[in-house]
Amino acid sequence: MSFKIVEQCTARLNRSELAVPGSNTKFLEKAASSPADIVFLDLEDAVAPDDKEQARKNIIQALNDLDWGGRTMSLRINGLDTHYCYRDVVDVVEQAGDKLDLIMIPKAGTAADIYAIDMLLTQIETAKGFTHRIGLEMIIETALGMANIDEIAAASKRNESLHFGVADYAASTRARTTRIGGPHPDYVVLTDPDEEDGSRVSHWQDMWHYAIARMVVAARANGLRPIDGPFGDIKDNDGYIAQARRAAVLGCEGKWSIHPSQTELANQVFSPSEKDVAQAQRILDAMEKAQKEGAGAVTLDGKLIDIASIKQAEVLVKKAEQIAGR
Ligand code: GLV
Ligand code: MG
Repeated sequence: MSFKIVEQCTARLNRSELAVPGSNTKFLEKAASSPADIVFLDLEDAVAPDDKEQARKNIIQALNDLDWGGRTMSLRINGLDTHYCYRDVVDVVEQAGDKLDLIMIPKAGTAADIYAIDMLLTQIETAKGFTHRIGLEMIIETALGMANIDEIAAASKRNESLHFGVADYAASTRARTTRIGGPHPDYVVLTDPDEEDGSRVSHWQDMWHYAIARMVVAARANGLRPIDGPFGDIKDNDGYIAQARRAAVLGCEGKWSIHPSQTELANQVFSPSEKDVAQAQRILDAMEKAQKEGAGAVTLDGKLIDIASIKQAEVLVKKAEQIAGR
């Protein structure tokens, strides 16, 4: 182990994160009873420029007046390159900051972007006498953000999560796709011709593998949650589940839902299975028994259990407890 201890961010369930446009009051009302672990109220790309001011008012009212039932609430502000950004922070946090858990910073490009929002938040929280600290979620969705991802992840004690914004990332890197997430028919490998009949097969690959794996490393190295972003085809549940599963395999803790129908799917994919939780509990029980008996090595079913599996088991059992308490 390194001498440096990685401090873990505030623990929250983040299996699903539902996007809700601030300009639509009906959607805001509906979101209050959503099964989503986190709801992010959007002032950025789902809101047209002419609607930004009204959306801010709607969100302030929704945060103050609706019963969000203990859900984690986030606000996606506009980018730091827009003139909306400072008012998004000042107006919403001054008027409803006591109901807000997180602020989501889109298109985070450098550590200084995080510093700027941290500074504003610190002033407002102090002036208003808030007793809780609002956390930060950063969307990695530009080439600049990806190039500076480690600095961004380490930029503030408020940081809680990194998110992969696949749509803007594709635009920024000029990837040849217009899809929002998912595979692409041109991103394939072609097998060698079959020796007998010369036939060849195309295997679809995951064009987002590097970006997500890179984000997972930056997030985990800084004690943050890595979260996979949107999947645009809201009618394709199987496609969504496949994307969520491959993100989970790489270490992501959750995925956005940009339509309510995706929320339960994310909750299912990112919840540990009963079988996994039971096995994790058996590992922890075996460890406790070995400790009581003063045995040096811990074994289960005839196999040695190492420290890494014990840590994984602890994480799994803790998550199951959080889900049960939801
Ligand atoms: C999310 O904001 C994205 O651009 O995919
Ligand atoms: Mg985006």
